[in-house]
Amino acid sequence: MTAPSDPTNLASGATSMRDRLCGTLRLDDAGTRVRVCGWVAKRREHGEHLAFVDLRDHSGVLQCVVPGTVDVRSEYVIAVEGEIRPRLEGTENTDLPTGAVELTDCTVTVLNAAEPPPFAVDDRVEVDEVIRLRHRFVDLRRPRMQANLRTRATINSALRSSMDRQGFVEVETPLLWAPTPEGAREFVVPSRLHHGKSYVLPQSPQLAKQLLMVAGVDRYYQIARCLRDEDLRADRQFEFSQLDVEASFVTQEDILAFVAEAVLDAAEAVTGVRPDEVPRMTWAEAIDRYGSDKPDIRFGMELIDLTSVFSGTGFRAFDAPCVKAIVVPEGASTTRSRLDALTDRSKALGAKGLAWFRVIDGGEGAIALESPVVKFLSEDEQAGVLASTGASLGDLVLVVADEYRLTCSVLGSLRLDIGGRPVSEGPYAYLWVIDFPMFDGADDAGNPIAAHHPFTMPHLDDLELLETDPAAVRSQAYDLVLNGWELGSGSVRVHRADIQSRIFAALGIDEDEAASRFGFLLGAFRYGAPPHAGFAVGIDRLAAIFAGEDSIREVIAFPKTQSGWDPMTDAPKALADGALADLGLRPLPALD
Ligand code: AMO
Ligand code: AMP
Repeated sequence: MTAPSDPTNLASGATSMRDRLCGTLRLDDAGTRVRVCGWVAKRREHGEHLAFVDLRDHSGVLQCVVPGTVDVRSEYVIAVEGEIRPRLEGTENTDLPTGAVELTDCTVTVLNAAEPPPFAVDDRVEVDEVIRLRHRFVDLRRPRMQANLRTRATINSALRSSMDRQGFVEVETPLLWAPTPEGAREFVVPSRLHHGKSYVLPQSPQLAKQLLMVAGVDRYYQIARCLRDEDLRADRQFEFSQLDVEASFVTQEDILAFVAEAVLDAAEAVTGVRPDEVPRMTWAEAIDRYGSDKPDIRFGMELIDLTSVFSGTGFRAFDAPCVKAIVVPEGASTTRSRLDALTDRSKALGAKGLAWFRVIDGGEGAIALESPVVKFLSEDEQAGVLASTGASLGDLVLVVADEYRLTCSVLGSLRLDIGGRPVSEGPYAYLWVIDFPMFDGADDAGNPIAAHHPFTMPHLDDLELLETDPAAVRSQAYDLVLNGWELGSGSVRVHRADIQSRIFAALGIDEDEAASRFGFLLGAFRYGAPPHAGFAVGIDRLAAIFAGEDSIREVIAFPKTQSGWDPMTDAPKALADGALADLGLRPLPALD
């Protein structure tokens, strides 16, 4: 046995109990005696004289040949000692990295017996998600899940060393905190010592990191746990992790450079290839061309403006402020029922309807449009559609006419429905989306809603519009997008009290409310707040994409189901008698 204290041996997996990891043994090791440990993946007996045990640890599987019989079953934890030898000619297994060798003349020590597993520890076996999560400790033994956990760890480690190298300091911020104004519903922790009062679990360290800038930390980062009580989806969990970043005396350009460096370092650490520089697009262009603020630029089908083609049209449906189209290549053969489904989908997305046109042979080498509504279009309009879209024979043109934003968002969704690909499928297409609007939409009282958060600095050129035309104010906020997922968000922050007051006024937040909600931050800003800006990258999303998974649940060790339940611990659970009373709480009668 080799000494486990030697760091090179530690890296190779050597410990006081084993010499090597199962998956690392190769022909070069033939002739060496090794002891390996792991779980029984499979056992086959060849009569009374020979037994084969496939032994699994996180690195892979090794075939062990045991003279005689061996009393082990699937998932028993065993140690095996023997000699590595080349397999007999014709018995090699090319599917297995260790398939050229086997451990022979083995002695087996049972370290622990195991009950039969609830499902086979095999990537090829489909298992219901609730069963997987109930027995997550078995599910995580599967090679794919082991690889996912390790991909995530590689990303974290690369992000950390990138931030360290760039002069950032890791600071941990509290989990028991006060409400922050970032839009999501928060998890509340009632206080035992202060009955009637509660802490709030942070949606992000947003305000803490801004206070660290006032504190002179200069460059902060943290791999931060964030908690949000929102509806769960493939890209959303209650708990998730951010690479959270803030820096002082910087502009947007500095932050984009810091974050790109870290993300590209992580990409390189996982894939071995450093991506090219990340391209940029303004928010306005993203909406205009892709109908989305997180465009998937891996494929075309961009939105094409037809408004001028239909200015003064006689077709009532197209007499709208905006008319746009997408072209579905070779989509002319789309069935009528599929077209009806797309029309229903458009209506569900808020459109009044969807007009479709098949591009057919118009005779004499020309192309023409075919559609139930084509008779309502003038010849010029038909020619205009073909010329503007550049559609060719066999394509399908889908047209929506409505208000600008609605038209863009409906076609943006149809584009993804029709042409979209799984998020994790290569190539990796990164994109900075910059110049987000300051406000997006309005609340029930008619006040604008902050598109990012209220501490975001407006574009200095647009400051004068804060009072006169808030909807037109651009902000110094930016997102990083990867394959159509929002990977992260950030902004330059407001550090001047006068601009902050004007933003609160635009949001309909009066001074008293601002003081009661964020008084601690605004108070701190009076003591010398440097100009500062920051960003947060969603690590779960990054890890999922690099692990080739389309749901972040696959890269989280112990995720919740879509309904927020943990089948393993059964959380959330009713509390024991008296626990609520300790917190000064009384249960309401249960709802039916
Ligand atoms: P934002 O709210 O946009 O910004 O969040 C930043 C990134 O965090 C990830 N994310 C999530 N991942 C998994 N599950 C969720 N429920 C979830 N919610 C968000 C996304 C997202 O892009 N404090 C600001 C950042 C800043 O301004 O510096 C913030 O949290 O990848
Ligand atoms: P209508 O005139 O409402 O009967 O609609 C005639 C056709 O145009 C139907 O196929 C509708 O789906 C389509 N349509 C109606 N309104 C719109 C619109 N705003 N944009 C695109 N297509 C529309």
